[in-house]
Amino acid sequence: MPNTLLIGAQWGDEGKGKVVDVLSQDADVVVRYQGGSNAGHTIEIGRDRYVLHLVPSGILHPDKTCVIGNGLVVDPLALIQEIKDLAARGVRVDGRLHVSDRAQMVVAYHKMLDAARENRSPAGARIGTTQRGIGPAYADKAARLNLRMGDLLDGELEHSLADRVAEKNRALAELGAAPVDARQMLQDLSAAAEFLRPFIADTVTLLNEALKAGRSLLFEGAQGTMLDIDFGTYPYVTSSNPTCGGACAGSGVPARAIDRVVGVVKAYTTRVGEGPLPTELHDSVGERLRERGREFGATTGRPRRCGWFDAVVARYAAMINGVDFWAVTKLDVLDEVETIRIGVAYECDGRRYDTVPASIHLLERCRPVYEEFPGWMSATSNVTRFEDLPKQARAYVQRLCDLTGVPLGILSVGPQRASTFRIKI
Ligand code: IMP
Repeated sequence: MPNTLLIGAQWGDEGKGKVVDVLSQDADVVVRYQGGSNAGHTIEIGRDRYVLHLVPSGILHPDKTCVIGNGLVVDPLALIQEIKDLAARGVRVDGRLHVSDRAQMVVAYHKMLDAARENRSPAGARIGTTQRGIGPAYADKAARLNLRMGDLLDGELEHSLADRVAEKNRALAELGAAPVDARQMLQDLSAAAEFLRPFIADTVTLLNEALKAGRSLLFEGAQGTMLDIDFGTYPYVTSSNPTCGGACAGSGVPARAIDRVVGVVKAYTTRVGEGPLPTELHDSVGERLRERGREFGATTGRPRRCGWFDAVVARYAAMINGVDFWAVTKLDVLDEVETIRIGVAYECDGRRYDTVPASIHLLERCRPVYEEFPGWMSATSNVTRFEDLPKQARAYVQRLCDLTGVPLGILSVGPQRASTFRIKI
C-alpha cells in the first residue's frame, strides 16, 4: 500500500479524524508529525464518540501501530490522561503507541505563559490560541531551551527544571501572572516519566525500519494549511508546519517515501480564533451551518466561525502540499441551503487575486468573488455512492474540484464511519 500524507487544506477542523479512520484500514503505522494537544480529532463509531488530541486516530484500529513523532510538542500530563481515557473505554495502547524521544515537551509554564499573553493582549492583538502552551513550547524549541520527551528518562529532571523555572517565573511576573510551582512540576513530571517510560522510543529508527520492511505509513496532519506558521495567515496561525514539509521534519522519514497526498476540505469553511476569513458569513446562513455542522471546537468548545467554500484557499493548499486527491467532508451540512456560493477569487482595491496574498492587511480587505449554485434541498446523509447524490450536489462537488484542479478521492456525508466513502482511493 502507498505511504499517504493527509493534510488539512483550510483552517483545521476539516474532519481529518474520520478520513484518517477510513484510510487507516490501508496503513500499518499512523504517524502524527506536528502540533500538540491543541488538535481535536473526532471519530464516531456507532454510538461511541472519541476526541483525540495527541494520540493518532489510527489507535481505534486495534492492529495499527501509532507514532507521536519528533515534530510534536507533547504535554505529558495530557498524554497520560488521553491514554487512561482510551484504556477506560477498552482501547489498548500498550506496545503499539510510541512517542518520539525527540518530541518537545509542553510543561506547566508553557500553558501559563500562553494564557497570560493571550489574556493580557488587547482584543485586536489576540491570536485566540487554544491556551495549550503550543506557541511558548515551540518558541523554546527554536531558542534551544526546551526539554524533550527523552529528557524525562535521563534522571536529570530536577536539575534541568531549576534554571528554566526561574527564568519563566520572571517572564510570568512581567505579565502579571502567578509563578509556577516548581515542586509540583517536578512531582508531576517524575510521575509522568514512570508512566510514559514504556512509550518513549527512537521513533525515527522505528519508522525507517518499518519502511524498509515494506510496511505502509499514514501521516496524520493536525490543524490546517492556513494555520501553518509559514504559509498561513501569519500571525494568526499555530506555531508548527501542518503542510507537507512538516511531515518529513516531524517524523524523520525522507520526502521520497511519501507516495500520495490527500487534502481534506470541508464543503464550506470554518475557523476558530482570530484572523481573516474572507468568505465568512455573518448572517442566519452562517448560524445554520454552525448548528447543523455542530461547529464548536473539539478542544476548547468555542463556536467556529463559518463561511462559504473558499476555492482560493483550497487551490493554494493544493499547490503547497501537492494534493493528489480531495477528501470532501460534511457535504450533508449544505443539504438545506437554497443557494450555495463558492469564493472563486478575491478582489481588493480594484485588483483580482487568484491566490492568497501574504499581507494580512491586504487579505483582511479582500472581498471574495462568488459563483452561485442552486442547493439540492434533500438529505444526502444516507448516500454511500457518489452517483446516488442529487444532481445539484454532484455539480457542486465537481465544480469545487474543477476550480482547484484536484480530483475527488473521498466524500463524507455524516459523522459516522459508514458515511465516509471512497471514490477513487
Ligand atoms: P495554538 O495552536 O493553540 O497556538 O492556536 C493558534 C491558532 O490556531 C488559534 O487560532 C487556534 O484556534 C488555532 N488552532 C489550533 N489548533 C487548532 C485545531 O486543531 N483546529 C482549529 N484551529 C486550531
